[in-house]
Amino acid sequence: MIRAALTAVALAVAAVAGLGAGYVLWNKKEVNWYAADVNKLGPGPENDLIRYGKDLIVNTARYIGKNASNPAMRYAGNDLSCQNCHLNAGLQPFAAPFISTFGTFPMMVDDQVLTLTGRLNGCMRRSLNGKNLPEDSREMQALVAYLKFLGEGTPEGVRLPGMGLKPLENPASPPDARRGQEVYAQQCAKCHKEDGQGELKPSPGIGYSIPPLWGEASFNAGAGMAKTAYAAAYIHANMPFGVSYLDPVLTVQQAWDVAAFMISKPHPPATPETGSDLQ
Ligand code: HEC
Ligand code: HEC
Repeated sequence: MIRAALTAVALAVAAVAGLGAGYVLWNKKEVNWYAADVNKLGPGPENDLIRYGKDLIVNTARYIGKNASNPAMRYAGNDLSCQNCHLNAGLQPFAAPFISTFGTFPMMVDDQVLTLTGRLNGCMRRSLNGKNLPEDSREMQALVAYLKFLGEGTPEGVRLPGMGLKPLENPASPPDARRGQEVYAQQCAKCHKEDGQGELKPSPGIGYSIPPLWGEASFNAGAGMAKTAYAAAYIHANMPFGVSYLDPVLTVQQAWDVAAFMISKPHPPATPETGSDLQ
């Protein structure tokens, strides 16, 4: 539901601007917001907070993962990083990027106000199968500072092209996990492995060089990625890793089938605490 509404906005902007995703003519200036770079920031505590926010997106498990060195900081229930899904630290178009995130929250979802920290904690509880980061924690402040930095200069209240996931056409025949298993064997298993558990970072790193797609270490059943339509759209535009929405490798049908296969495998359950909707 969120996605339908957001897509409409993104398409409207694209139509107005008459340009492809990522580049928008605004005040007659062509800006590629997807090229935001923390390395251009100078020293100072505010910029340190932004840099820490990016590090939290990239190396999530090291700080707040299930196996983080400080037990009090183990907010996540797995060792996924935000970047495992929000590719390139939230700068990859149609991999649920963060360019317009700061400027479009809070938003109304099903007649309720969804705040930015509330949405972010939705991913903490479901994608990371854990619990909320406290609003006043340095980690939450750093993540929000990073999202604010990525959104600097972007039009407020507008979802720029490339935000969210790229809507995928309906499949010609209903998604089929058995066909999806063959796609998986041909296109995915060499990285995510036959058992779907991916690959850990070389020790002493915490987290994955290739994330798991199912099992106890994966996102839970309430996560966006556990919905076939979301997973299919994500996979078509972004997997096998290295493709972009401009040069997809999978056919539309293959994306739906392999998404159905991934979701047919066990995931940690959604509980009343983790929630099972996008809010
Ligand atoms: C298993 C995949 C996955 C992981 C891991 C994950 N997310 Fe997400 N996230 C998603 C999906 C899917 C969406 C929804 C995209 C949509 O609505 O189009 C989303 C949406 C969001 C949004 C809303 C963005 C917007 O502008 O609509 C925020 C903020 C967010 N995630 C933050 C995080 C943070 C922070 C982490 C790490 C602590 C994280 N996510 C980890 C899959 C994931
Ligand atoms: C070349 C190796 C490679 C191949 C092949 C590949 N992936 Fe991935 N996949 C990755 C990596 C690496 C990431 C995480 C990216 C990051 O952290 O920057 C990822 C992330 C994902 C995610 C989001 C993270 C999560 O845990 O849910 C999904 C879903 C996914 N891949 C599904 C697939 C599917 C389905 C296929 C086959 C069509 C596939 N991948 C093929 C390497 C690969």
